[in-house]
Amino acid sequence: MSPIALAILLLFLVALGRFIYFCRTLASHGGHKPPPGPVGLPLIGSLHRLGKLPHRTLHKMSKQYGPIMSLRLGLIPTIVVSSPAAAELFLKTHDATCANRPTVQLAVEHFYGTKTIAFAEFGSYWRSVRKFCTLELLSPAKVESMAWLRREELGFLVESLKNAARSGQVVDFSANIAGLMEDMTIRMLLGKSKDDRFDLREVLNELTKTAGEFNVADFIPFLGALDLQGFTRRTKVTGKELDRILEIIIDDHEQEASKGCEKPSKDFVDVLLALKSNPTGTHEQLAKNIDRSNIKAIVLDIIFGSVGTAQTAIEWIMTELIRHKRVMKLVQEEIRNVMGNCEFVQESHLSKLNYLHMVVKESMRLHPVVPLLIPHESMEDIVVDGYYIPKKSRIIINGWGLGRDPKIWSENVEKFFPERFIGSDIDLRGQNFQLIPFGSGRRGCPGMHLGLANVKLVVAQLVNSFDWELPFGMSPDALNMDETLGLTSPRAQHLLVIPKIRQI
Ligand code: HEM
Repeated sequence: MSPIALAILLLFLVALGRFIYFCRTLASHGGHKPPPGPVGLPLIGSLHRLGKLPHRTLHKMSKQYGPIMSLRLGLIPTIVVSSPAAAELFLKTHDATCANRPTVQLAVEHFYGTKTIAFAEFGSYWRSVRKFCTLELLSPAKVESMAWLRREELGFLVESLKNAARSGQVVDFSANIAGLMEDMTIRMLLGKSKDDRFDLREVLNELTKTAGEFNVADFIPFLGALDLQGFTRRTKVTGKELDRILEIIIDDHEQEASKGCEKPSKDFVDVLLALKSNPTGTHEQLAKNIDRSNIKAIVLDIIFGSVGTAQTAIEWIMTELIRHKRVMKLVQEEIRNVMGNCEFVQESHLSKLNYLHMVVKESMRLHPVVPLLIPHESMEDIVVDGYYIPKKSRIIINGWGLGRDPKIWSENVEKFFPERFIGSDIDLRGQNFQLIPFGSGRRGCPGMHLGLANVKLVVAQLVNSFDWELPFGMSPDALNMDETLGLTSPRAQHLLVIPKIRQI
């Protein structure tokens, strides 16, 4: 058979297959059709169309197919949600059915199976471990009790930036913020910021990069065993190092506890180990069911939740402030007015910084830290807005697209304009589906309070202590604004700046 005839036959078979699937679907689901979407290729579906920045591609596609779009990624039926009304249907109306997570290879192999909160199956384990973390580690009171520690770490960074300012040095802002967030997080976990026995940043960088890669095995599972991309081989080394670090952290705490050392304040790992050794009270059931690997998994939730997210958010906020001098000036004035003669921002100041809050919202609208949230999975066949969604569909909420919906944000969607939030009740807590940088519903981010405290504290302090210029006489309009995608979506290029000390 000639190649042309073969191609025609293949096309015919694909069309026939889709027609039969369509007729069966209609017949078996009470006339409800699947949502509209592109016809995929055999085996890979629409995977080849996603590109390096899937949030942008899916946003474009949704303009053609609508706010609830279906496509096949490899063998996985996938629903992409691109309007606030549609997001509300999946994250509120049908939240209980769509609150599962799909199984992904990276999580199974390197994040302790499904023991992390972020990748745990929807069910009693996830519920109890999430409740424990929300109450015991991430509650506003707990976050507040560690405020001194965040301020101290931030103070070290301010001092080193002042030294750089005195000698007119160009500073890699992105790298400095990455270091700060890592130090703050390790300190919350360990009670101390530096440990020469490991380099957590390198491991995090590696895993964050890998998480952004497209892994064939997650979409065409039977190809997983072949490890065609060398994904398993590459991540094995990093996974091992990560486990070694977590073992050191837990060992240290166990040894201290066995010596009966009285600590002035308990860090996160102390709280976790106390739960395991004293299984009574509210979390009794969880305490009886967890072992060392669960504790490592929870520590990992906190590390991944705290470091890359805040770092990405701060990097984008500073980028926008540097590009918009008018806004920067207003933020600086507001901070001075609230702080008076204090040199260091206190967390009690943060709730009074209304304009800064609008700046954070506007930056998270344009540059959501996790543009596609974490994928959800449907646990039952459901009908949403008249469309049939089969069980085990992957649900992708395009937060990046929601922030650019002209019906909500007017035609100036690409403009950084914090004043658009004046008099608006749109908040960050996930009740308004126009803006959901922390997700919403049952799977919404449990670390929002800590995340926002970190982001606001760091930005407020850095714009109060310094003015910021771009190096090499670069104009703010020339600043590269490309993003990249890993676990979060940071700037593609590091932000380089020259700090200038502001007089208090
Ligand atoms: C600026 C900071 C942060 C941002 C923008 C952020 C954003 C998000 C987003 C978008 C999700 C997915 C929601 C969904 O799938 O519907 C999420 C989930 C999660 N976040 Fe955060 N996060 C931040 C800080 C934190 C912090 C500080 C922690 C913990 C210390 C944390 C822990 C988690 C966990 C454990 C989940 C999974 C929840 C679940 O599956 O039940 N996050 N976060």
